[in-house]
Amino acid sequence: MNDGDGTPAAQERGRKFGPLGTTLVIIPTYNEAENVKGIVGRVREAVPEAHVLVADDNSPDGTGKLADELAAHDDQVHVLHRKGKEGLGAAYLAGFRWGLDHGYGVLVEMDADGSHQPEELPRLLTALKGADLVLGSRWVPGGRVVNWPKSREFLSRGGSTYSRLMLDVPLRDVTGGYRAFRRETLEGLGLGDVASQGYCFQVDLARRAVKAGYHVVEVPITFVERALGDSKMNRDIVVEALWRVTAWGLGERVGKITGKGGGRPQE
Ligand code: GDD
Ligand code: MN
Repeated sequence: MNDGDGTPAAQERGRKFGPLGTTLVIIPTYNEAENVKGIVGRVREAVPEAHVLVADDNSPDGTGKLADELAAHDDQVHVLHRKGKEGLGAAYLAGFRWGLDHGYGVLVEMDADGSHQPEELPRLLTALKGADLVLGSRWVPGGRVVNWPKSREFLSRGGSTYSRLMLDVPLRDVTGGYRAFRRETLEGLGLGDVASQGYCFQVDLARRAVKAGYHVVEVPITFVERALGDSKMNRDIVVEALWRVTAWGLGERVGKITGKGGGRPQE
């Protein structure tokens, strides 16, 4: 990130990263019956050594049952049944907890609808050998989006730009949901006090990682809009993201002025 001698980036160049350990790909689902089998199969084929955890919020369309059938035939597929729809953030927090409790060394976030291509996961994992956190990024050179309406691209780019400026986070794709964490990174983020429910969970974790001094690397991805089923994005999710990012940003500014570091994520 920053360059020049004595900066964190200069220190990072000399830093050694430990071996990666077993990968768990966490896939949150809500009404993804048309997608769950395809995405799990693609992950298993693209990275055969990885395990998969489907974190289902008791989808009315029976996604959880379909996931159980996949798990019954494959020791590397697991299902976390949650009692109801509580948002993407809560599903990931439960998935991370499960993965950490079961000893996985790498925890990956991936959407169920095929937008995050499992075939690109080996590139993320290779980058993680020299990083604490890897973000699949649509908005770095080489990254792109296929089949998104202009309005959605505007929202996503705008959300990333607003977050970057408001939170002083030097990342291009702050809201994306295709990521690979080392377990130690997740353990260091203070997940116990994460309150974000919707997609701003992604912004929350990115800013925590940067503020905690972790080495975050963006790898270009091709995000392909879903062909089947519906997006769960809605107005409430946008409103939550807007007020939380604004509150975090103002909190940090107040913290800097009063010298209390009020915006530090661990506090
Ligand atoms: N368990 C659970 N509970 N899963 C959920 C919930 C929930 O409340 N809400 C959404 N999901 C799952 C969906 O089933 C899907 O697998 C994934 O989360 C992403 O949901 P989409 O509805 O397909 O998201 P999107 O395509 O509109 O948004 C994408 O872009 C956002 C902004 O960049 C995703 O990549 C988001 O992660 C990202 O923040
Ligand atoms: Mn999607």
